[in-house]
Amino acid sequence: MSLRDQIDMARLPQHIAVIMDGNGRWAKEKGKMRVFGHQNGVVAVRDTVEGAVELGIPYLTLYAFSTENWNRPKLEVYALMELLVSTINKETKTLMKNGVRLNAIGDLKSLPPKCYNELQEAIRKTSENTRCTLTLALSYSSRWEIANAAKSIAEEVKDGKIKLDDVTEELFASKLCTAEMPDPELMIRTSGEHRISNYLLWQLAYSELYFTQKLWPDFRREDLQEAIIDFQKRERRFGMTSEQVN
Ligand code: FPP
Repeated sequence: MSLRDQIDMARLPQHIAVIMDGNGRWAKEKGKMRVFGHQNGVVAVRDTVEGAVELGIPYLTLYAFSTENWNRPKLEVYALMELLVSTINKETKTLMKNGVRLNAIGDLKSLPPKCYNELQEAIRKTSENTRCTLTLALSYSSRWEIANAAKSIAEEVKDGKIKLDDVTEELFASKLCTAEMPDPELMIRTSGEHRISNYLLWQLAYSELYFTQKLWPDFRREDLQEAIIDFQKRERRFGMTSEQVN
């Protein structure tokens, strides 16, 4: 039976979040510069997005650049930004063809203007697509996002727009960058690292975590399918007992 046939289409995760890790090590293994790994990471992005669309996953969120990534060597940061611009440019047509709506979360204003403008243009062009929402986390960190949400709520309380008792989990979630999306049910990290790295800390509260040794540039739709099969074998209890959920 093929991997695809092993997937229960009635129980697909509605939102999959991915930490694309291992580009640098992949390049190093081949005696190449780190940038070569990022370039090949784009191939994995393309195949994973197509794999998600093909299955009918409505939300896919990729960690493309963290706030902490600004501390990498200048040349690597520059190359990543250039790669982002050229990829968005090249891929918009395919996103349109596949019905993918592009979205971005993070401190987008800190991106170089060319990158920011290209991104906004692609977001605008794809805004009517409904098959899948592809969110790129760019200059993103969860603590930054949570601090911003707290600040925004504090301001509303101070200005008398809401009362302290109005501050609920739902209100807090509505102030996060992901307000319009369901929480990820599955989070995949490649390259054998077992960390969350400041990614969607609030939203991952009940996500199933899946770690694979594969380095990101080698990740393909079949790996996505394997992660989904693994996810579907798990019992999600949300704090209840096994008897209760069954
Ligand atoms: C982590 O690998 C990867 C990144 C920081 C960048 C991810 C970017 C891409 C996959 C390419 C562009 C993406 C899009 C959406 C167009 P690493 O460099 O930390 O690898 P290492 O841990 O082996 O050093």
